[in-house]
Amino acid sequence: MEVIICPDADEVGRVAAAKVGQVCAAASRPVLGLATGSSPLAIYRHLQLMVGEGRLDLGRASAFALDEYVGLDPAHPESYRSVIHRTVTEPLGLDPDRVHVPDGSAEDLEQAAAGYDRAIAEAGGVDVQILGIGSNGHIGFNEPTSSFASRTRIKTLTQRTRLDNQRFFDSLEDVPTHCLTQGLGTIMDARHVVLVAQGEAKAQAVAATVEGPVTALVPASVLQFHQRATVVVDELAASRLQLGDYYREVYAGKPAWQRFA
Ligand code: F6R
Repeated sequence: MEVIICPDADEVGRVAAAKVGQVCAAASRPVLGLATGSSPLAIYRHLQLMVGEGRLDLGRASAFALDEYVGLDPAHPESYRSVIHRTVTEPLGLDPDRVHVPDGSAEDLEQAAAGYDRAIAEAGGVDVQILGIGSNGHIGFNEPTSSFASRTRIKTLTQRTRLDNQRFFDSLEDVPTHCLTQGLGTIMDARHVVLVAQGEAKAQAVAATVEGPVTALVPASVLQFHQRATVVVDELAASRLQLGDYYREVYAGKPAWQRFA
């Protein structure tokens, strides 16, 4: 795993966007994996700048979101369909027909989940998956004890995740209890993954992911088995890493051909 420690949250976004841009530039029809929540917003802002300044062309890109709430009206402002449209599709000028979000209001959720995995495969697989991390170590909505082999499916959100996401809703009761999420196996199929985290509330989950044992109790720790995983964090999110100085030294000493930002 490559670990990059940045001075602040905006730099996390800039460095992660540079990595995403590098992967996209190398693909003729890039397939992006999108996360929602607060963590990736700075990435999307920097990608928007890169597109606006002509440094990145996403005209042929398609995208797949990680997850969606079950039972929330797709038109609700906090449905991930709405959030992705508002924070990614419009600002980056992506073709809305090529931006996909799991259908959390499908009558047959299992069929919708299986169809989502098929659609990713038919698009050629995800080139670069953007990830945030939950305070409990989840990626997507793969809560602790999710199977490392899991594919897109229905999951029950933990109380901790619902409390963490309460800020997007009027009350805890309004936070959905279930979701459709790409599985850990689905996420691991992406050719590159870029995980970002900012703030002290993520420090423990980041340390357990990068330096702890690989365990279903910390779903993101499965990324230790990914061949091309980049973790970009700010100083606060890095504050519990044991080898912080080593990661800083490695990044500072990278030869030019290995750099992307
Ligand atoms: C969102 C997602 C989640 C979030 C995580 C962190 O699509 O898959 O794993 O990335 O819950 O959320 P924030 O960034 O809001 O702290």
